[in-house]
Amino acid sequence: HHFQPKKDISFSFDGPFGTYNNQQLQRGFQVYKEVCSACHSLKLVAFRDLEQIGFSKPEVKAIAKGWAIETPTLNPDTGEPSTRKSVASDRFPLPFANDIAARAANNNAIPPDQSLLAKARDEGPHYIYRLLTGYGTQPAELLKKYPDVKTPTGLHYNPYFPNLNLAMAPPLTGEGQVSYSDGTKATVPQMAEDVSAFLMWTAEPKLDQRHRVGWAALIFLFVFTSLTYMAYKSIWADKK
Ligand code: HEM
Repeated sequence: HHFQPKKDISFSFDGPFGTYNNQQLQRGFQVYKEVCSACHSLKLVAFRDLEQIGFSKPEVKAIAKGWAIETPTLNPDTGEPSTRKSVASDRFPLPFANDIAARAANNNAIPPDQSLLAKARDEGPHYIYRLLTGYGTQPAELLKKYPDVKTPTGLHYNPYFPNLNLAMAPPLTGEGQVSYSDGTKATVPQMAEDVSAFLMWTAEPKLDQRHRVGWAALIFLFVFTSLTYMAYKSIWADKK
């Protein structure tokens, strides 16, 4: 699949000066919530973490309220686990009760947890973006050369997925699949970019801080080195 052109976009957080754009992260959260969360868990993230991307406490509370979470007690009438509304300190509830249920709903594949996905793959957010926008039909010359890669029934061809065919049908299907409250037009590439950025934030929430501290450390070292050199010069100045 090396002959596939790479879809390149740049993110606000790329490079050593990069920072997150909270507006984009909030849009990405909306895509996660309305699309991805049907299958992918986000089990390392708590609702209150969303305050870091600019949601207010009441907003976080309201978001949490919308997600039912299972409690350890069984409902005495039905034998099913009982549920309650999430609160800000809860982590995002899992979409499936267990791996068997997850496989049963996904052609025997398990949708991976998305909390750290962006760090678990090379070029994480770029990979996620390419995968989301890269579905297509298998090129005839590829099939001719490697008949074994023919997409089996129930799987979907995507040249950006390491083994070419995956169990996830294209999750982003058309413009307006979500409606952004900030007025941004929800095209497929836009939603893909926003959710990829959001998943980078879940995987590395302290990126902005790391970039800032890194530069501060470099500047400090530069100043310190200069002072040391000047001190050395002045101490030995008359000993030539
Ligand atoms: C796999 C992202 C929505 C089911 C993946 C992978 C990514 C991804 C990046 C590849 C993971 C890897 O490299 O191992 C997303 C995003 C979504 C979304 C960002 C929302 C926009 C969904 C939905 C479903 C789903 C709604 C179920 C209907 C799966 C499954 C896999 C998968 C089953 C595993 C595929 C395999 O291993 O063959 N997803 N996904 N995803 N996704 Fe999604």
